[in-house]
Amino acid sequence: MINQVASGTAALLLMQIMTVAMAQDDLSVRQNAAASVAAALIQELGSTLKTNMAEDGPEAAITVCRDIAPTIANDLSLEYGWKVTRVGTRVRNTMMGIPDAWEQHGLAYFSAEIDAGAAFEDLDYTAVITEGNQRYFRFMKPIVTQPLCLGCHGPSEALSPAIQTILDQHYPHDQAINYAVGEIRGAVSIKQPLE
Ligand code: HEC
Repeated sequence: MINQVASGTAALLLMQIMTVAMAQDDLSVRQNAAASVAAALIQELGSTLKTNMAEDGPEAAITVCRDIAPTIANDLSLEYGWKVTRVGTRVRNTMMGIPDAWEQHGLAYFSAEIDAGAAFEDLDYTAVITEGNQRYFRFMKPIVTQPLCLGCHGPSEALSPAIQTILDQHYPHDQAINYAVGEIRGAVSIKQPLE
């Protein structure tokens, strides 16, 4: 009788462990998928920016960060059924780039880790959250400032007069300057509804 109870308890425990393991598996599958989507966005943005800057100069390349980045993010959102966006630590586009509360925690976590010596490529930030009746898987990957970014996000001496004029015209509330190479510029943020 005691044995039966013990083996019953063991079986129950085993089931619980398996359930937790399966849930973790599912999350790690999601995490890997989100990581590759974020990497695809960062990679595509970087290479499109590079090509456009080389071919048409920085003034024309403004459209990459302005129009193409949201388009790529939008295409990825439609393709995967997830919300894929870019947020900034200091923001140029106040309509699209402002992080929500969860994303602000993620950005603060990334900054602290980077200050402590962590490498960008090793960092991500994930959680399962509930809003109303809906659960979501959330994922963030940091975006680092590269030399290529300084012409539009660097200190004011790095911005050409032409760029400065365009920025003043389109983004009167621009905060996204004075970044240094290696500093966190923002993050790709992904939100997936869970069943
Ligand atoms: C040619 C100018 C230009 C260059 C170069 C550039 N950006 Fe931008 N960036 C912009 C503009 C303009 C916006 C505002 C886009 C919008 O309206 O949504 C922006 C917005 C962003 C945002 C969204 C958050 C925000 O501030 O609104 C991120 C993140 C970002 N840029 C990262 C980068 C990174 C990283 C690089 C270098 C790899 C880079 N940018 C290079 C012009 C540029």
